[in-house]
Amino acid sequence: MLSRQIAHKLRSYETPFYLYDTALLRQTLESVVYESKKYGYKVHYAIKANYDDRLLAIIREYGLGIDCASGNELRKAIEAGFDPKSIVYAGVGKRDKELRYAIENNILAINCESIEELRVADALSAEAGRVTDVALRINPDIDPKTNHCIDTGQADSKFGISYEEVLEHAEEIASFAHLRIVGLHLHIGSQIRELHVFENMCDKVNAIVANLEKLGFSFRFVDVGGGLGVNYDVPENEPIPNFASLFSIVHNHLSIGEREVHFEFGRSIVAECGELITSVLFNKTTATGRKLVIVDASMTELIRPALYGSYHNIENITSEAEGRDKYTIVGTACESTDVFDENVSLRKTQRGDLLTIKSAGAYGMSMASRYNLHDLPGAVYSDELQ
Ligand code: LLP
Repeated sequence: MLSRQIAHKLRSYETPFYLYDTALLRQTLESVVYESKKYGYKVHYAIKANYDDRLLAIIREYGLGIDCASGNELRKAIEAGFDPKSIVYAGVGKRDKELRYAIENNILAINCESIEELRVADALSAEAGRVTDVALRINPDIDPKTNHCIDTGQADSKFGISYEEVLEHAEEIASFAHLRIVGLHLHIGSQIRELHVFENMCDKVNAIVANLEKLGFSFRFVDVGGGLGVNYDVPENEPIPNFASLFSIVHNHLSIGEREVHFEFGRSIVAECGELITSVLFNKTTATGRKLVIVDASMTELIRPALYGSYHNIENITSEAEGRDKYTIVGTACESTDVFDENVSLRKTQRGDLLTIKSAGAYGMSMASRYNLHDLPGAVYSDELQ
């Protein structure tokens, strides 16, 4: 972890802040580009994971496209210089003004998630005098074997159109005069560590593509979403996620001819390059004997533990004490669930020590809030450290 090596330098920054290891981000991007090129796969970065301008500028250098989930994310991507023709836009509830903006900008595809959305996109495209490229986001009904809070592709989920509904409305979908159905999209969930799940996904995609093409659809690309998990337990063991394994699974199981295959990775691109650095404010012991370490970060900077019960590895990067102790690490917010972790073994910890909360580059800053009127955390980049 970068923070441990440069802990002394971090003292000069006001905590809490995100520390980004831009060299690791670059290595991760090199890996995903190298591995995807072997098969001609196209990779989009899911900007919801982290929309930091400096990170986006680096990601753009490597030629990735963007996957966005709102009009503002789309605007951010365009302003950051990404080619609109490399941007896809998914989302169950797109406002008319967001759809209009996507239509005007002629993006690679609007990934439509309901029959009603297709109708509205068709009408708004007609109004704009355009024919818009869209992809059908289908709910593939697959259990991604991940935390239930972050699965997205099971039958009852709000995401995507059910395959049955697509069949039922196939004629109508094919008849929209102002839409070109260019792609098929699905995303089964996030933080997927059991890669065999992607084999099931490929089997489903093969069947769906074959069946829909029999009905007259013709897809230029299939976008299989993101979801590749990272190693939150021991990030040092796997700083760069295993893109090679995922691509090889997809290569071996997907049989959709010459159609382009697209991925939308968020977490696997940026999670490991980010750490949340926080200072210890106070120590105290509860009446039940729990040793609390109260840090100056909270769920307002990193909500994942409070929201999903997610685990992040925590380390004291400045203590030089010989002994260790077990602590519960809590934040400053007025919420009982504002706990980063319990029973954490740390070097003996005291006021003023710096802790790192690791693997926080994805869905950390982008989910930050101003609850309790907290300031939003700053960012420090490894290539800018004095
Ligand atoms: N594509 C679509 C359509 C998505 O909905 C998502 C994530 C991605 C791609 C990127 O997935 P990834 O490669 O990052 O797994 N806030 C949660 C994760 C929510 C994911 C939402 N969709 C968390 O902190 O775990």
